[in-house]
Amino acid sequence: MSQIIPKIIGTGSYLPEKRLSNYDLAKMVNTTDEWIYTRTGIKERHIAAKDELTSDLATIAAQKAIEAAGIEASSLDMILVASCTNDLIFPATATIVQNKLGISNSKIPAYDISAACSGFIFAISSAEAYIRGGMAKRILVIGAETMSRIVDWNDRSTCILFGDGAGAVILEASGKDGTEAGLISTHIHSDGSHCSLLQTTGGVSQGPPHLKSGSGLGFVYMQGNEVYKQAVKALGHIVEETLEANNLQREQIDWLVPHQANIRIIKSTAKRLDMGMDRVILTVEQHGNTSAASVPIALDVAVRDGRIKPGQLILLEAFGAGFTWGSALIRW
Ligand code: COA
Repeated sequence: MSQIIPKIIGTGSYLPEKRLSNYDLAKMVNTTDEWIYTRTGIKERHIAAKDELTSDLATIAAQKAIEAAGIEASSLDMILVASCTNDLIFPATATIVQNKLGISNSKIPAYDISAACSGFIFAISSAEAYIRGGMAKRILVIGAETMSRIVDWNDRSTCILFGDGAGAVILEASGKDGTEAGLISTHIHSDGSHCSLLQTTGGVSQGPPHLKSGSGLGFVYMQGNEVYKQAVKALGHIVEETLEANNLQREQIDWLVPHQANIRIIKSTAKRLDMGMDRVILTVEQHGNTSAASVPIALDVAVRDGRIKPGQLILLEAFGAGFTWGSALIRW
């Protein structure tokens, strides 16, 4: 009997035009290109224009994914946006994207998912459940961020890390044609005992912070080296969990598409998989940590440049504030 398999039928991504290099940052805070590059693998990040909102970035990425899939936006039956830098507290950025796509009349559900840098993986996992459960057939899943709005541009330990961008995929109910291509499994976890290691300094219920720079809702605070250790541990575990759940050996994974936060974290996950870096999709150098947008951006880049090919086994993974972490295994 054929079963429903959620399949990615189109990808898209968008990076704002303005680039901020390590050399530009060295004029703003006490840092160097050499320090940033050796510690993080980042060379530059993209910064949204003043009038460019998270929903704008999301909409462009979505339009590209819709075009790549060869479908009409009106045929979507759900929109999920993963972000921690939403346009407004409410309404959900997903409803704003629905409107910008010109499909508000469709009345399809559109809502946001908040799991920081793991947000896209969490959103894919939700979409998977809707599709496998028969509640939706075609879902637009977006990761989009304007991290530049919540970064403290005086804090050299965090402002060097983040950037703006968006990535999107169209997930569709498939499997009836007898092919095996599609999402095999997703695995998601949270551990709230580490909230304070990576958080914003203010918010709605907690109230506004003592403003330095960053937005009125606070700015990014991070204990970098502690986050680093926890990320390496959690990502190592999630990789093992995904392989075990699917009875797979490490060498069967063709491509690792990791959260693009830091080259050193990515290298240690690749090592755990015994993977050479030639099988890892790396875009962190060009855009830094774009939080929920980083995995779909990297995926889109590798799909469009032809590295990811039909039949290959792709492992997506991410780690973020909360802590949250997760993976998605896909037969392309
Ligand atoms: N330029 C130059 N020096 C800097 C600097 C910068 N941009 N940022 C921090 N430093 C200094 C510190 O002040 C410190 O100086 P000191 O020894 O005189 O006190 C020194 O560098 C070491 O700081 P530390 O924070 O221990 O550096 P690190 O080796 O841990 O690297 C990170 C910092 C942020 C690059 C690293 O911790 C990291 O990658 N963490 C994970 C971050 C991440 O990916 N988070 C997102 C997960 S979703």
